[in-house]
Amino acid sequence: MLVLFLVCHVFMLVLCLSAAEDFDWTKNDHGSFYYGTFPAGFSWGAGSSAYQTEGAWDKDGKGLSIWDVFTHKKGRIQQNETGDSSCEGYYKIKDDVSLINELKLNHYRFSISWPRLIPTGIKSDHINERGIQYYNDLIDHLLENKITPIVTLYHWDLPQVLQEKYGGWQNISMVNHFNEFANLCFEKFGNRIKYWITFNNPWSAAVEGYETGEHAPGLKLRGTGAYRAAHHMIKAHAKVWHTYDTQWRAKQKGMVGISLSGDWGEPVDISNQKDIEAAERYVQFYLGWFATPIFHGDYPQVMKDFIGRKSIQQGLSTSRLPTFSPQEKSYIKGTCDFLGIGHFTTRYITQKNSPSTRGTSSYFLDRDLAELVDPRWPDPGSEWLYAVPWGFRRLLNFVKTQYGNPMIYVTENGVSEKMLCTELCDEWRIQYLKDYINEMLKAIKDGVNVKGYTAWSLLDKFEWDEGFSERFGLYYVDFRNKNKPRYPKASVQFYKRIISSNGFPNQREVENWRRKAVETCSSSNQLLAAEEQRSTAANILRLIHDPLTSHMEMVTEIVVPTVCTLSILLSAIFLMFLLRRRN
Ligand code: NOJ
Repeated sequence: MLVLFLVCHVFMLVLCLSAAEDFDWTKNDHGSFYYGTFPAGFSWGAGSSAYQTEGAWDKDGKGLSIWDVFTHKKGRIQQNETGDSSCEGYYKIKDDVSLINELKLNHYRFSISWPRLIPTGIKSDHINERGIQYYNDLIDHLLENKITPIVTLYHWDLPQVLQEKYGGWQNISMVNHFNEFANLCFEKFGNRIKYWITFNNPWSAAVEGYETGEHAPGLKLRGTGAYRAAHHMIKAHAKVWHTYDTQWRAKQKGMVGISLSGDWGEPVDISNQKDIEAAERYVQFYLGWFATPIFHGDYPQVMKDFIGRKSIQQGLSTSRLPTFSPQEKSYIKGTCDFLGIGHFTTRYITQKNSPSTRGTSSYFLDRDLAELVDPRWPDPGSEWLYAVPWGFRRLLNFVKTQYGNPMIYVTENGVSEKMLCTELCDEWRIQYLKDYINEMLKAIKDGVNVKGYTAWSLLDKFEWDEGFSERFGLYYVDFRNKNKPRYPKASVQFYKRIISSNGFPNQREVENWRRKAVETCSSSNQLLAAEEQRSTAANILRLIHDPLTSHMEMVTEIVVPTVCTLSILLSAIFLMFLLRRRN
């Protein structure tokens, strides 16, 4: 067993090292860098979401969400991990606000857990006062520190009762239940919240929740489930916007928007009309699916055409894409005071006809396209996340031209790293942030109306079906330690400089920031290593005193770290041996 672990670890170490070797940023074509500053009053922030960070999944009267139930089913999440305790953010308001202060952020984006406030999801059943207390404390503490809260109402954690009773977002009744929940939030918190986001990334909630089943509730209703879920989410968004508009806006003077995610799609061959159309289709099926009804009153024409045609070919009498009535169209149109944009990556797109016979229906096939990536694009973390900064500028310009230059807040942008190579010196994140933020600056110079930027995310946290294996945080969280301590990565220092200068003053200074950030992180790295050794030793002692502790716990908390340390030592000895032989 021990030998197996050793071999595995040395193998992993070699993998990490060779990945680092391949990872040469200087070889990437960054285009020209633009030195300059953001408009005065530009808002800098970082984000989180309830299920990903709060923990306390069953504490103080909280009800179950679809994610609580989904993660507890074996085989759904990497290593069967859950967000049961995650970062324990529920107990760490003060600690986390001090991290936000350290960065000197202007805003902090978080989400409210619906089942923490309304355990069954149905307002008339029961309201959980302790849940309200928690968010009151968080909001008050942020405001005392002059940090503007940006609040998301739905970041995917639907109350489980609504899923079981009605089928969740497949059912139109969600519109009213969600509206009641939102109304409760306006009533309780609206005197202090000026920025509300109804839905976070409804694309993911619809496609991964109801089409591929990779996310909660894990349904695979291919070709119909996502369209139906999205249809109800769009209606629910509009209803909540109208509720705010008619009942609260005059008094509370806030804004209600939605946060949409979108990858950019670039034609593989820019001289090929078919590729140009396919790339446009990719973006319309992604961002346009939600943005077009909200800004123009109906789904993108290309979605109606493609899904409609394929549905007929599949022998259906109507399109799998639901339709809005004329009244609904005018009710939905214009329900956005600001648009939240979540953006991470880009794809090359080429035209590719997909089959449209019976039994082949799927959102993905409906688009008639293929996605490609440039093998030279860096992908330091999540499999899907390639760093392609120029795509960000193009997406922002697309939003400007398609939707009448709306007020934009970037609500998510960032990059992950794999858990295996624990590292506070996250140079790749510095590079990613620097280049993406710079492209956003160029977009502002192009005339795009971007008012704020939210780095994703403040902390490492539960990354949905990937569990804790992908770390997006500016702050590292030691999940093996029960206290979940946070450590700043180098990117904290770098992002802080961008914020305090409100942009990029000149090449010399920006290069200095990078150098200093990387210098300071190595001492934090040592701190973390020392702390990890300390907790390993403490665990050994605890095990000696507690013979009943499970074998599994011993493997994950003691054997693995010890084996890791041993294998690092062995690798070093092996290396020294090789060097000696050379000499
Ligand atoms: C978008 C989701 O909203 C967020 O929760 C997630 O962490 C990021 N994508 C990265 O996958």
